[in-house]
Formats: sequence, C-alpha cells, structure tokens
Amino acid sequence: MDLFDKFQIVSDVSERILGTGVNPFGVCMDRILSPTRAEVNGRETILAGTNNYLGLTFDPDCLAAARDALGSEGSGTTGSRIANGTYAGHRDLESALAEFLGFKSVIAFTTGYQANLGAISGLANAQDTVFIDADCHASIYDGCVLSGATIIRFRHNDAEDLDKRLRRAGSDDSNKLVVIEGLYSMLGDRPTLADFVEVKAKHNAYLMVDEAHSLGVYGPNGRGLAEEENVLEDVDFVVGTFSKSLGAIGGFCASNHPKFDYMRLTSHPYMYTASLSPSNVASVLTALRLMQERPELRTRLHENSRALYDGLIGLGYAVCADNSPIIAVKAAHQEEAAFLWNKLLEYGVYVNLAIPPGTPNGVSLLRCSMSAAHSPEDIQDICSAFRKAREELS
Ligand SMILES: Cc1ncc(COP(=O)(O)O)c(C=O)c1O
Repeated sequence: MDLFDKFQIVSDVSERILGTGVNPFGVCMDRILSPTRAEVNGRETILAGTNNYLGLTFDPDCLAAARDALGSEGSGTTGSRIANGTYAGHRDLESALAEFLGFKSVIAFTTGYQANLGAISGLANAQDTVFIDADCHASIYDGCVLSGATIIRFRHNDAEDLDKRLRRAGSDDSNKLVVIEGLYSMLGDRPTLADFVEVKAKHNAYLMVDEAHSLGVYGPNGRGLAEEENVLEDVDFVVGTFSKSLGAIGGFCASNHPKFDYMRLTSHPYMYTASLSPSNVASVLTALRLMQERPELRTRLHENSRALYDGLIGLGYAVCADNSPIIAVKAAHQEEAAFLWNKLLEYGVYVNLAIPPGTPNGVSLLRCSMSAAHSPEDIQDICSAFRKAREELS
C-alpha cells in the first residue's frame, strides 16, 4: 500500500489526455495582455474561458485603487480579522455589498471557495441537515463535510425532488438548509428560483443561493438570479465571489438574520486564515461601483454570449444552455474533447477542458465563458477556430 496509490486513476486519465497534445491542466499564460488576450506558447491567444464576465481585470480605476491601497496599507494584513483586526476597507466593502444587495449584513471571506466552506460550516453542525443540488460546486460539498451535518443531495434543478426529500426528512428537530446555485458553472444552466423558494417555505427550511457566476450577470442591477426572478427577499443567504464579475479574489455571504454576525466567531474558514489584502479590497470596492455605474457591460456580455451561442449552434455543436455567459460545448467523449481543445489552442483560442469527474453525468465539455470585453471580431475568431477544429476531427 502506498499513499500515492489513489493517484493512479488521475494519472491514467492524465496520460490519456496528455497523449493528445498540450497538458490542458498546466497551460502557462506567459504574458497577460488584456482581459481577453494572453501569450501562450509564444502566440497571442484569445481567452474564452476566464469567468471575467464584465472584463474588469484591467480597468484603470480598479488598478489605481489597488495601487493606492498597496502604497498606503501595505501588501497584506498578515493575519485573520479575529486576531489582527479589521481594516477600514474590509468594513467598507462589507457595507457596500450589503447596501448593493439590500441585506442587513455581509461577511467577507478570503476566497469564494472559503465563503461556501465558511458559511455552510459556520451555520450548520452535526444536528442539522443540508440539502444540496447534485451539481453543486465542490466548495459547497466541502462546506457540508466540514460542518458535520447530514448531507442529502437532490436531483439537479429539481424542486419537486427537493420537496420529496424534505418531506421524507419529516419534521425532526434538525434545522434544514437548502443550497443551490444561481448559475451552474459547468453546464451554464440555472434553476427556477421561485420553485425553490416555495418548497423551502413549505418545509420551513433556509435557502442559500450561491451567486458566484450570476452576480453582475443577471438582474436589472446585476444582483444575481434572485434579483432577476424577484425573490431576493425570500433568500436567506446569498453567497458570492469576487473572482468573476468583480475581477479579483475573495468571497462573501449576505443575510438579514439578526444573529448572522455571530458567524464571525463560529466559522473556521473566516477565523483561521489571513483576511483579504488591502489592494484586493480596494479593487473589488471599485469594481462593485463600476458594476452599478456601467450597466452597458452586462448588456454587452449578454449580446456576446448570444452571438457565440448562435455561432456554435450554427456550426452544429451541441451547447448545454442558452441565455448564459457560460457556453459549454458537449464532446462525444474525453479524447474528442481533448483533441478539440488542443486544436482550439493551436488556432489561438483558449477555453476550459472539463472532463469527469469534474463534470455532471460524466459529460466531457469545452467550456467557454464570455466577457463584456470580447469584441465581435473575437467571437468570429472563436467560431472560426471551432469550425476548423471540427473539420480536423472528421
Ligand atoms: C459555484 C461556485 N462557487 C464558488 C466558487 C469558488 O470561487 P473562487 O474561485 O472565487 O474561490 C466557484 C468557483 O468557480 C464556483 O463556481
């Protein structure tokens, strides 16, 4: 028995995929040129798999705010907020987010992953039950495991199945927390939130919506799917990340519950890790303002998403969901996905290769994510690369 025996399965898949060309999980961006361009293997490449939905990673205001904070507050906080204190920027960011979302309180975490880990494990314990969508992100699973709560999975985007499972769980004493996402990261599909709100209310459960991919993307003000569906007030906890529409790193959980802030003293992923660095906080605060001041970014994002979706459908590709900036193209199997992925890179387009076990139902995907910063020419070039890649397949 060897500690590394469990790596065999990973190494088998990896060898098979590596056999088709470049290692898709080890691509080095030698130089980052813009929100939509990088130099890869000496070639300027269109980035079409970055989650940089609003294209704010090089925004001059965000960069200036980050530089100022770096100069005035230093490169890091060197500890957690419980031990080293809260910086004014942490407080301002949490207040700005609370105001933006219309919630009483927001707790910021150092990554989006930790926001789920910290919120779920801070709220639930071994006496509680967490109901999660079968396609939930790993951070949600991991948060459940850390909490020690009973975990019950329900069928993806299926509020009826949740209803059945909540009914089966009966009226025992456990608190019941339902966790879903506003936009699922692999397939780019979304739930009908109103159905989940109805079911959670019927069973007196709490509802947490992870808007990691939907914040800045959906809703008249970019507050996410709950705003788009007009159910924000019915959601008990909104989780989000700073690493996608807001173009930096970090995460948060928002709630109206009067005792919510006690979570700062129960959540290990909040308490036992260094807090967000000042430059990062300043950049996110600025991006949050721009997200509100520049609704045209969201409009452009949706136009770009529609254009790529139509283009790929026109080429005969099977795309998982429409009306989404995540455009996930289905391949017949892992080898085909890896072949197409390599061809796309060769033609100057970077997308994400997503294969089992990281995907739902064993599907292999070429996952594209659109940005407001993509130009119409970029979209034509992406489609043209997909066309040539497909021709080489036959
Ligand atoms: C649904 C969901 N939640 C949380 C996260 C974690 O966010 P971060 O990468 O900012 O840590 C991700 C990351 O992709 C995600 O897709």
